[in-house]
Amino acid sequence: MHTKTALSMKKIKWGILGCGKIAGKFASDLRLLEDTELLAVASRDQQNVEKFGAEYGARFIYTSYEALINNDEVDVIYVATPHGLHYDHVMQCLRGGKAVLCEKAFALNLQQAGAMISLAKSKRVFLMEALWSKFIPSFRKMKALIEENRLGDIQNVLINFGFIPQPPIAQRIFDPALGGGTLLDIGIYNVFYALSVLGKPDHIEAHITRASTGVDEQCAVLFRYNNGVMAQLFSSYTSHLPTEANISGTKGRIRLTHRFYTPEALLELYTGRMDSRQVIEVPATQGWGYHYEASHVNDCLRKGLTESPVMTHADSLLLMETLDNIRHKSGIVYPADQVIEQADNH
Ligand SMILES: NC(=O)c1ccc[n+]([C@@H]2O[C@H](COP(=O)([O-])OP(=O)(O)OC[C@H]3O[C@@H](n4cnc5c(N)ncnc54)[C@H](OP(=O)(O)O)[C@@H]3O)[C@@H](O)[C@H]2O)c1
Repeated sequence: MHTKTALSMKKIKWGILGCGKIAGKFASDLRLLEDTELLAVASRDQQNVEKFGAEYGARFIYTSYEALINNDEVDVIYVATPHGLHYDHVMQCLRGGKAVLCEKAFALNLQQAGAMISLAKSKRVFLMEALWSKFIPSFRKMKALIEENRLGDIQNVLINFGFIPQPPIAQRIFDPALGGGTLLDIGIYNVFYALSVLGKPDHIEAHITRASTGVDEQCAVLFRYNNGVMAQLFSSYTSHLPTEANISGTKGRIRLTHRFYTPEALLELYTGRMDSRQVIEVPATQGWGYHYEASHVNDCLRKGLTESPVMTHADSLLLMETLDNIRHKSGIVYPADQVIEQADNH
């Protein structure tokens, strides 16, 4: 019989920093995991944290993020604030010696992401970007089908992601200081899937429709590879799109249907003359699907790892570098970029 070691049995105690929308879904999914406890939560708002803490059964509630970081019992903190604040909040957690799972987008730019990873390495503390889709069954199966050469030579990746944000619209959606715009919020999934299938592009082209705040309300991206392969990626806050991904090769096509980046999507395989639709079975998901990444973080911590072997630091850096390039090509600028330019000039 397999005997669990003391390490593998350790209960992992989570803290959540920022009690917004995604934090609630994540907290709800933590309940699906054994040997896992939501120990403490922190919000800037007393009423909010009381409600959130009661709903998800946290033992400690705080109205300061610092107090959460200072709780010695917390093993790992899930940072669920808007992406414009990830750098500050992650750095604070790491300085306090806390392992971190940080929501996507990991940071606002490559320089911030690099600094976060450097600090994690120097402190020997675990840090991972919460790119949850990489852990869901349909993504893993998609990768396996490609590795089995079911598509032949891949020729293109076509992905759309669009919806009209409904009131009350969170400030982070359009605020440049918080990393607003479609690219870092939803276009990031398109970019992540394309990078996962095709790797780093040789050339990038990108154009945006600018919102009144200066960020992108639509973003069209083209990846070109020297072998002729292309990816066409589109994100929009101005229309509801069929949010799906198609990956096509010389032998077949994979279609991930609506909300392609979630466990809700069907994984369809078309082969032959492309009219033979086959729905590929993947294990059904309980909850929202955030427990896959949380469970992986638990495993990493139990093994004493400081970096995930699945969503690596290099993966986050490549994603951030690519997002920076798209922003550079299309003219999306955040105040944080200017801070970096000024620092570089001194
Ligand atoms: N993985 C996914 O499927 C997924 C889905 C949606 C969003 N996300 C990511 O998760 C992050 C949060 O998104 P969300 O939709 O949960 O946002 P949200 O509902 O606006 O929640 C963000 C929380 O951050 C805290 N916060 C701290 N300073 C803030 C400030 N200056 N302005 C606004 N909020 C501030 C607030 O919590 P307190 O008031 O409690 O401190 C707020 O409730 C984003 O980076 C987003 O990209 C991921």
